[in-house]
Amino acid sequence: MHPCPAHTHALHSTVTETPVITTTGLKKVYRSRGREVTALDGVDLHVREGEVYGVIGQSGAGKSSLIRCVNLLERPTAGTVTVAGQDLTALAGRGPRAGRELRKARSHIGMVFQHFNLLSSRTVQDNVELPLEILGVSGKERSRKALELLDLVGLSDKARSYPAQLSGGQKQRVGIARALAGDPKVLLSDEATSALDPETTRSILQLLRDLNRQLGLTVLLITHEMDVVKSICDSAALMENGKIVESGTVSELLATPGSELAAALFPVSGDASGDDRTVIDVTFHGDAATRPVISQLSRTYNIDISILGAAMDTVGGKQVGRMRIELPGRYEENVVPIGFLREQGLQIDFADKAVEAPVLAKEGAK
Ligand SMILES: Nc1ncnc2c1ncn2[C@@H]1O[C@H](COP(=O)(O)OP(=O)(O)O)[C@@H](O)[C@H]1O
Ligand SMILES: [Mg+2]
Repeated sequence: MHPCPAHTHALHSTVTETPVITTTGLKKVYRSRGREVTALDGVDLHVREGEVYGVIGQSGAGKSSLIRCVNLLERPTAGTVTVAGQDLTALAGRGPRAGRELRKARSHIGMVFQHFNLLSSRTVQDNVELPLEILGVSGKERSRKALELLDLVGLSDKARSYPAQLSGGQKQRVGIARALAGDPKVLLSDEATSALDPETTRSILQLLRDLNRQLGLTVLLITHEMDVVKSICDSAALMENGKIVESGTVSELLATPGSELAAALFPVSGDASGDDRTVIDVTFHGDAATRPVISQLSRTYNIDISILGAAMDTVGGKQVGRMRIELPGRYEENVVPIGFLREQGLQIDFADKAVEAPVLAKEGAK
């Protein structure tokens, strides 16, 4: 176990290598009024048990289609969807018996929506009980379960209220409690926080992460906010035009030179303060991230280092991210210190694209 900072919960997510959501060659083509739109164009998604997995991408990239195909609310045009070991695509449209099995399988997939989708004529408790009613759970058991879930999301005192009497954040908590009614193994969330203000967004995200840790719930969430990914996701994927163009754990993305997601997650900026300066971006991930390499560098080579910008975060108890630093002197004078950083397992990129080409040529010639 990693040491745990006092402000976080004692529980850490326990991500295993067991795949819990897998799609292979997932394709979705919408046909409307003689027009065809390819929303998913061969998506291979691998979400591991116990992780929070973020999908990001521009509007129209296919994110909602992906999530709706994962729980078969939308029938995929081609490809397979496996959730918790069950091939859902094999059950879809295979007669009444398979239909029942599909509904049962789907009850183990919780779904949270952007617009909450609560029934305004029902109390909070009755909204949470709805999926249990559909599953045929008895009244007494439904009531027990609903109250337990409302307690879990911090709304025990609102059981008898109606949705119209709640704030946006409270409505989403009801949406989350309802999504948990069938004891799901996975929770799907399509922009669950995009209708909420920043502070409420943070509290809902904290709740999703707590549920992930407390219940071992796997969470697949869609967002267009990089901050969301950074604060709660173990892994992320970037979608463009119906395809996943990048994916991996936050550390893996950081370790990928030129990763668009890593650049968006950990943006750094800052220019050299003079001509005879070398500006480099140092990427921290893996074991090197825990060592005080910058102060070691400064002491070992007796040089003054300026930090121009940094985007760091704590992931799994380790500092990860990027730092843009400035070293006195031109590149030629800094070959040894930069080599030192690389030997420490750090990834070094040259911030000034103009010097990158000659630098690389020089290195190649060594
Ligand atoms: N029910 C539908 N009928 C026709 N086209 C759709 C439908 N749903 C989505 N699309 C189209 O599929 C593409 C992907 O949409 P969507 O999955 O909603 O993307 P995102 O959630 O990333 O914004 C878009 O071009 C969109 O217009
Ligand atoms: Mg969408």
